[in-house]
Amino acid sequence: YNLTVLISGNGSNLQALIDACASSILPNTRIAHVISNRKAAYGLERAAKASIPTTYHNLVPYKKKHPQTDEGTAAARMEYDAELANIITSLDPQPDVIVCAGWMHILTPDFLNPIANAGIKVINLHPALPGEFAGAGAIERAWEAGKKGEIKRTGVMIHEVIAEVDAGEAIVTEVVVLKEGEGLDELEERIHKVEHGLIVKGTRLTLEKIKK
Ligand code: GRF
Repeated sequence: YNLTVLISGNGSNLQALIDACASSILPNTRIAHVISNRKAAYGLERAAKASIPTTYHNLVPYKKKHPQTDEGTAAARMEYDAELANIITSLDPQPDVIVCAGWMHILTPDFLNPIANAGIKVINLHPALPGEFAGAGAIERAWEAGKKGEIKRTGVMIHEVIAEVDAGEAIVTEVVVLKEGEGLDELEERIHKVEHGLIVKGTRLTLEKIKK
């Protein structure tokens, strides 16, 4: 099987996938391409170290082609997403699954439609439970809610990507119980460890569903 992994940052989840492919926890699976929307993403270094081809897909040139208005920005994002889909569907071989591992862009139908037409699945890691804390800063918002006694647990999920943020069908979830008086960095540490296991499990479950 072939994976394309989308990243924006440190790439610790990408690393978990690299290691899982190398140790056959993900059998006959390879990460054929890594794409980042940020040039400085350390995940690009991790990919290079693992001899995985990378692409830096930069939004700036698209923004420059449009006025700095809401409509202009939306148009830029649509073109950016359409080109991202084109980059991926032009890969040979095409990936079976695209894994969003800390990818900090909202994927629009301009990306999702051509990808779905090519029969490629898209899954996303989100450090919250289904229906909770959608969007950025999920771990911090869960930590704040815990401090106020509003929740006793949060969690991590891998879900199918649809055009609504962090809202697709959950593939696998894992609960993380909050600890009284725990610092945000401690919770983040515990959640990232859960992410690293879950992103491999979610990818394996998705690949197992693909008849080959
Ligand atoms: C995850 O919590 C992801 O949701 C957020 O950052 C973490 C991914 O980090 N964007 P990494 O880049 O995989 O280390």
